[in-house]
Amino acid sequence: METTHRVFVEDSRDLSTLEDDSVELVVTSPPYPMIEMWDDLFTRLDPAVEDALEAGDDRGAFEAMHAQLELVWDELERVLVPGGIACINVGDATRSVDGSFRVYPNHARVLEAFESRGFDPLPDVLWRKPTNSAAKFMGSGTLPPNAYVTLEHEYVLVFRNGGESRDFEPGADRRYEAAYFWEERNRWFSDVWTDVRGELQDLTEDATDDLRDRSGAYPFEIPYRLICMYSAYGDTVLDPFWGTGTTTRAAICAARNSVGYELEEAFLEAFDDGIGEIAALSRSVGRARLERHRSFVERRREAGDVPGYDAEHYDTPVVTKMERSLRLREVSSIEGESGRYRVEHEPLSVSSD
Ligand SMILES: C[S@@+](CC[C@H](N)C(=O)[O-])C[C@H]1O[C@@H](n2cnc3c(N)ncnc32)[C@H](O)[C@@H]1O
Repeated sequence: METTHRVFVEDSRDLSTLEDDSVELVVTSPPYPMIEMWDDLFTRLDPAVEDALEAGDDRGAFEAMHAQLELVWDELERVLVPGGIACINVGDATRSVDGSFRVYPNHARVLEAFESRGFDPLPDVLWRKPTNSAAKFMGSGTLPPNAYVTLEHEYVLVFRNGGESRDFEPGADRRYEAAYFWEERNRWFSDVWTDVRGELQDLTEDATDDLRDRSGAYPFEIPYRLICMYSAYGDTVLDPFWGTGTTTRAAICAARNSVGYELEEAFLEAFDDGIGEIAALSRSVGRARLERHRSFVERRREAGDVPGYDAEHYDTPVVTKMERSLRLREVSSIEGESGRYRVEHEPLSVSSD
């Protein structure tokens, strides 16, 4: 199986390089309005942002920042196929402007923007981020009533483009082979994710972590899960706020095509430097899923409840009929650089080497 991956160092407020109905899934995380690390970027996109901030007009700044994101949201309805899904990871912001502290509800603003563009909101995910800060509470210590709740969650907002779900021909291999395990379904389709910095994350900690922190990168597991949940083999995933390219790394590991847009060329150079590691990552990720499934089966077996179907490609039982043709893939070669890649995938090798 071959997939292709494109990255454009371009402004995603104009996606005219993409044809109508050319992607099946959007997975992205925009710069969050009213989070200070993104003030300069929003000011570059619209100088009125800085004017508003300097004038202490926080509502005006919030609106002006969202107006820039909306130019991107405007394009998504056109490039996404009918029934295609858009997953937007966004967090709210807290900030003091002119001595007054408040929350800026980015998630509510993005939800409204998508709904008014003809997207149907689907149940969203609350991503509970781990925290270990003892001094995390803000406000007046232990005295009521002026302390503030700490924000330790972000959202993954999920939208369908239009009212109808996508159709596949009956028994379509590219859909059935992209099935996920029953117990993955139960974890992934839960509306609160507390386990994102889990097993797969350990596989993806690497030397680029400093860059990832500075760029507001999300953990690999976020786009990887979403891609497995909402796309089939053969589909194309778009990230209009590509950053360090986590979505593309996840799409490659999940054997889907991808396309990204990013203003900062340096991120693409860093992606090229790390591209040699993606093949091993894809194998580790596939094997971790399979091993986790085997542990699940073992626990069920011990409880006297062995799953009733056999997987066609792996020596393991599965719980549902739909999982039988599930087939994981690993990368065998990646060709290309500077935003244009061709990737060969082969079935996951399960023998140890
Ligand atoms: C929150 S970061 C995305 C991080 C990414 N998910 C990752 O894992 O690295 C947002 C990115 O969007 C980029 N960006 C913001 N506005 C953009 C625009 N109009 N066109 C293209 N890229 C944009 C920023 O440069 C930044 O890298």
